[in-house]
Amino acid sequence: MLSPIKYPPRLDLARIPTPLQFLSRASDKWGAGKRLWMKRDDLTGATLTGNKIRKLEFIAAHALEHGFQTLVTCGGVQSNHCRATALVAAQLGLYCHLVLRADGEPEQNTGNFLLDQLAGATFEILPAREWATQLKALYARLESEFAGAGRPALMIPTGGSDSLGIWGYIAATEELRSDLNEHGIQRAALTLATGSAGTQTGLTAGVAMFDLPLDVVAYAVCDDADWFNRRVAHDWQASLARWPQLPRIDLSPKTRDHSVGPGYGLADVSVYELIAELIRLEGVVLDPVYTGKAFHGLLADLREGFYRDVDDIIFVHTGGVFGLFAHENQLMGVASAAS
Ligand SMILES: Cc1ncc(COP(=O)(O)O)c(C=O)c1O
Repeated sequence: MLSPIKYPPRLDLARIPTPLQFLSRASDKWGAGKRLWMKRDDLTGATLTGNKIRKLEFIAAHALEHGFQTLVTCGGVQSNHCRATALVAAQLGLYCHLVLRADGEPEQNTGNFLLDQLAGATFEILPAREWATQLKALYARLESEFAGAGRPALMIPTGGSDSLGIWGYIAATEELRSDLNEHGIQRAALTLATGSAGTQTGLTAGVAMFDLPLDVVAYAVCDDADWFNRRVAHDWQASLARWPQLPRIDLSPKTRDHSVGPGYGLADVSVYELIAELIRLEGVVLDPVYTGKAFHGLLADLREGFYRDVDDIIFVHTGGVFGLFAHENQLMGVASAAS
């Protein structure tokens, strides 16, 4: 079906549509009578894997269209978004510079951080305590330095979550409409991890725009539910201001925050145990920073009857596999405990 919405320019970077996979063994074990499904957005590519690629299709198209030669973005040392941006830049022949949040020099050259460097991205470290106060000024300085050097930079916010990135998951909801038809799903909860709220905003908006029988529930991996609900509303308003083709509708974001645990990037042992268990049950690999935490929160809600009104629950697997390698010690702890 042709979409009635006029999308901005887009590159073809992601391997989509991704499969909607029924998790039969996980449903038997944890489903409490519901069917558990996974939208495999970890399969959008091999190294270019995860949710960020859907956003970058629009962000990178904008960069090329407007003559930017550098992509600048930021995130934690193990940011999946930074790694995806570095690889997209390499693929398109653009420069990439990353502002990475860390206290001191990163101890491990592993996972996403290793790939950033292999892809030729340059980087600088901004200490976590200075992030809130210094990032804006640093972005302004980098923008003018790259312009001065004849390599103008597109300054991409954390997670690619802005009025451009939002289109990635608006488009993904059109894919979900076909998935629902193909699998005969009448009504479902659509669950996901939320970190910088871009995926959540795109899905919440897309579901409302296309009137899909889905109830979007996001699981925070940091901050609290209020913060995310306000952020979605704010980013949606910014998108409405930029794109006249978006319908003037109000969004009602739903965020759950009981699975944040000790904080961003930190997880309780029960999350590591769940990751190991799901690998053994379904051969599906979650990560401790985003998807593992969110899936953990979803299972807790299932046990407590939060999903009593639906028969089907879809979890969007937003990727993150490379981040796993920075958690080797915790994972080996649960792997040896289970064997
Ligand atoms: C694997 C993974 N899942 C989920 C998210 C959250 O997506 P968003 O930043 O759009 O909220 C991220 C963001 O960094 C991620 O890397």
